[in-house]
Amino acid sequence: MKKLQTTLLYLLLSIWMGVQAQDMKPVYLDNTKTMEQRVEDALSRMTLDEKVALCHAQSKFSSHGVPRLGIPEIWMSDGPHGVREEIDWDSWGAVGWTNDSCMAYPALTCLAATFNPKLSHAYGGAIGEEARYRKKDILLGPGVNIYRTPMNGRNFEYLGEDPYLASQMVVPYIQGVQQNGVSACVKHFALNNQEEWRGHINVNVSDRALHEIYLPAFKAAVEEGKVWSVMGSYNQLRGQHCCHNDLLLNKILKTDWNFDGVVVTDWGGAHDTKQAALNGLDIEMGSYTNGLTSESKFTYDDYYLAKPFLALLKNGEIPVSVLDDKARRILRLIFRTNMAVNRPFGRFVCDEHSETARRVAEEGIVLLKNDKQILPIVPGEYNRIAVIGENATRSLTKGGGSSELKVKYEISPLEGLQKMYGAGKIVYSKGYSSGPSAYGVEIPSAENQDDLFNAAIETSKNAEIVFFIGGLNKNHHQDCEGGDRLSYNLPFNQDKLIQEILKVNKNVVVVLASGNAVAMPWVNDVPAIVQSWYLGSEAGNALTNVLSGVVNPSGKLPFSFPKKLEDNGANSFGREAYPGDSINEYYKEDILVGYRWYDTKKIAPQFPFGFGLSYTTFEYGKIATDKKNYTPDETIHVSFTLKNTGKVDGAEAVQVYASQPKASVVRPVKELKAFSKVYLKADETKTVELEIKAKDMAYFDEKLQDWKLEKGEFVLSNAASAGQVKSNVKIQIK
Ligand code: GLC
Repeated sequence: MKKLQTTLLYLLLSIWMGVQAQDMKPVYLDNTKTMEQRVEDALSRMTLDEKVALCHAQSKFSSHGVPRLGIPEIWMSDGPHGVREEIDWDSWGAVGWTNDSCMAYPALTCLAATFNPKLSHAYGGAIGEEARYRKKDILLGPGVNIYRTPMNGRNFEYLGEDPYLASQMVVPYIQGVQQNGVSACVKHFALNNQEEWRGHINVNVSDRALHEIYLPAFKAAVEEGKVWSVMGSYNQLRGQHCCHNDLLLNKILKTDWNFDGVVVTDWGGAHDTKQAALNGLDIEMGSYTNGLTSESKFTYDDYYLAKPFLALLKNGEIPVSVLDDKARRILRLIFRTNMAVNRPFGRFVCDEHSETARRVAEEGIVLLKNDKQILPIVPGEYNRIAVIGENATRSLTKGGGSSELKVKYEISPLEGLQKMYGAGKIVYSKGYSSGPSAYGVEIPSAENQDDLFNAAIETSKNAEIVFFIGGLNKNHHQDCEGGDRLSYNLPFNQDKLIQEILKVNKNVVVVLASGNAVAMPWVNDVPAIVQSWYLGSEAGNALTNVLSGVVNPSGKLPFSFPKKLEDNGANSFGREAYPGDSINEYYKEDILVGYRWYDTKKIAPQFPFGFGLSYTTFEYGKIATDKKNYTPDETIHVSFTLKNTGKVDGAEAVQVYASQPKASVVRPVKELKAFSKVYLKADETKTVELEIKAKDMAYFDEKLQDWKLEKGEFVLSNAASAGQVKSNVKIQIK
């Protein structure tokens, strides 16, 4: 009995102690409390200075925590394709660590080309693990700015020309990243569709184009992806910088879309204290002292949201409630990331990450032309193989601006080809050279271009097959941040080189590594063309797996390839429409971006949006719907058969477009409203079933300032691409 009493006494004592300890622990540190309870408690303990400190950088890539309360600082890192090497405290320079060489995943244009949301989730999960392992709280990506013109230097970082494709692909990426307790940071919000004058160009765009084309991917990122942070863009919208833009941030993002996360500037995107305070900015990063271009020793305290902000709070010009809203959002991000309970620990450069990088690359590569089935080329078929082009050996993970990477490894196309076909059977000749990649400046190559050119012709003459591995690269004025392209043609004399090679060898497979469309004057003269993107660390393995038939290509273009630049909407109105007059720019093509333009103007692109071949063939059955009449709140069930009519297994990204033939306003001929990647064995048939919410066929009514679905006839079309409609079905909206 005695023993029992003693045990009971101990038990009661320990419970009492536990309760006391629990009472002693502040709420914000108590994992049993809700996120909002912890945020409010932390906020209530902070001074004015500590709250203001949260709202601006303390270094190049970090912002303050609250040291006194043990609330950690926020560490951020680029970028969308891999975790950038550690950058200096106070400059853009690299620190030079030896433990920060990462996995380079394919650029997001390649991810979009997979038309595979599941793969996007795997991508986000893998890159999120690397960001977590590198102790980053915000990964500065993904970028979802719409592909408006092939001249934009940063298209390679984004998800193409169609808002629906971009929306479907960005959501799983964000969910993948954030399941690691790392915040994704969808960027650049919004209308950052070029690099020319990006720091200030004032975009004038209609409400319809804004809501129907440029915002949907951001809206999906927030409402479906539940993204925890958004990066404002450098440019202006209707006269206000987007990093502190009342319409974009207060009205659309934080009110209409209910965004509860943090808005950070692009680096140096803040320009005014009052606007930054009142127009929805939460954390100011990357500014220079007082917005000038010279950095002073105490840059960070001079930030717009630092001392000047504190002064306006202290003199009552700005109510503390404005500051508290920012601090709450920042604390919420902290409790979601570096103070999150059960946050996973991440992983860095492992087999699974290589596998993910390779699968995205393999599924994103687009076969554009394959006459006489010259591809795939199985090992042993040829004994004298020429490989021509600088992109066969050049690193394409370096350069390009903030998405540059220091990688653990990068398999080049040449290495991949040598592994697959035997180094002894391959002769490599660079053909041209472009000089080292440097930010903001073009450094010409020191090599003799004539010698390279002539050697490549000789090498091609003696070969049975030529792999031309060219395209753009990450140099300034190519696929690179900070500048736009100067020409729509391939650079470094490649068009001429391809044409001269064809004179000595007809068997030329052109492989383009790029994140943008290019002119193809040789398109009718080469038997095969492969669009192979920036594929990252696994480039050579993925590309050769496709060229050799180990993998059957299934990628489809996330943007159209116009035959000539002037065929493109934004480039057909003169300078005011692109790149602007250096102050203002007018999006004169309005909602008719990409295939929406080519359809309406009846211009045939070289290769249409959504186009991609396979080593097999597919037959589409007639599209059908579950009924004829729908109310706006109903879901339309679409179905059709798809048959693999070829001899090898393959996958096909089927697309469904919606049209409203008799709308009361101008509408695109058709718009993508559903897609699915269907895997079929040789000879196999599947019934494809897709859903379209009737309300998603609405247009944005500028008078209503809301979406409007008119009654009447709509047409749904199944298609292999925007240029290959297979069948149509009419429905009525009642
Ligand atoms: C750059 C880019 C942005 C990047 C940031 C930090 O200027 O515009 O995408 O995340 O600054 O490097």
